[in-house]
Amino acid sequence: MKGKNETRVCVIGAGIIGGAISEAISPYYPVTATRRNIQKVERLAEKEIRVTSDNSLAAAEADLVIISVKPVQVVPILKEIAEPARGKTVISFAAAISTDILRLAAPGCKFVRAMTNIAVGVRKGYTLFSPGRDISPEEKTILEDVLMKLGEIQQVEEQYLDVLTAMSGSGPAYIFTVVESMIYGALREGLPRDLALKAAAHTAIGAACLLLETGKHPSELRDMVLTPGGVTIDGIYELEESRIRTAFMKAIGAASARGRTLSNEARAQAMHDIE
Ligand SMILES: NC(=O)c1ccc[n+]([C@@H]2O[C@H](COP(=O)([O-])OP(=O)(O)OC[C@H]3O[C@@H](n4cnc5c(N)ncnc54)[C@H](OP(=O)(O)O)[C@@H]3O)[C@@H](O)[C@H]2O)c1
Repeated sequence: MKGKNETRVCVIGAGIIGGAISEAISPYYPVTATRRNIQKVERLAEKEIRVTSDNSLAAAEADLVIISVKPVQVVPILKEIAEPARGKTVISFAAAISTDILRLAAPGCKFVRAMTNIAVGVRKGYTLFSPGRDISPEEKTILEDVLMKLGEIQQVEEQYLDVLTAMSGSGPAYIFTVVESMIYGALREGLPRDLALKAAAHTAIGAACLLLETGKHPSELRDMVLTPGGVTIDGIYELEESRIRTAFMKAIGAASARGRTLSNEARAQAMHDIE
């Protein structure tokens, strides 16, 4: 791999996540983005991102390849780029496709499995990644620098990526549901819609920053808001009666179970595609 900023990054699958990744990286690295329907990514071309539907050419010209297509599309694409991407680092953002499947489809590539979330669109993604043992320290430095352009990064063991997909990859959808529910509550009390949305979103940001900056447990911070006989305890009482914690535990359990099913299906399909 070449040094920083000379490294051409190719993003295969410039959809919601791949498009946002391309935009986040392009101020720092030369980027080629691919998808079959390139009319849909004209906004990327305006940002000096090279746009093509030729995955093989894009992979041949790249030093680092990022794959951001739906899980079922990963193996066919890897077979397509196996030769041009030989010896290169390939980061797969696809949910549920483990590195053993990736390696079977393109044995000559060096794989990193990663997960992020939709907040990459505002460079606030939380990107979890698990590099293979064949990634050199120099290659790791460059790929970390690339991933840092998307927001925060964290290296993890691959075994944790499926539950992290259900919790952090899917997570913005849960938080949006909480924020929307808070807005509805405020609307019922007559708060103007725009003010309710801003107040709920900033409250979520503030609470998240407190958690990260103080390192305190959520229950400790919540206790600091719960004045005896005050306002908040009545709200918490209602939430507890609605079994909100059980609801979230069940939600993450259900999403994880779905991830395992998809993973098994993807494995079966991948083995079929590889044969
Ligand atoms: N959305 C999320 O919040 C989220 C969060 C975490 C992880 N992920 C993971 O990120 C991956 C992408 O998800 P997404 O939501 O961004 O999906 P998406 O919007 O459907 O993007 C996938 C893109 O792949 C392109 N594509 C399909 N076949 C292709 C091919 N043969 N060559 C080149 N491009 C091709 C599609 O465009 P064309 O049809 O024009 O080719 C599409 O734009 C998934 O594996 C998902 O598990 C998503």
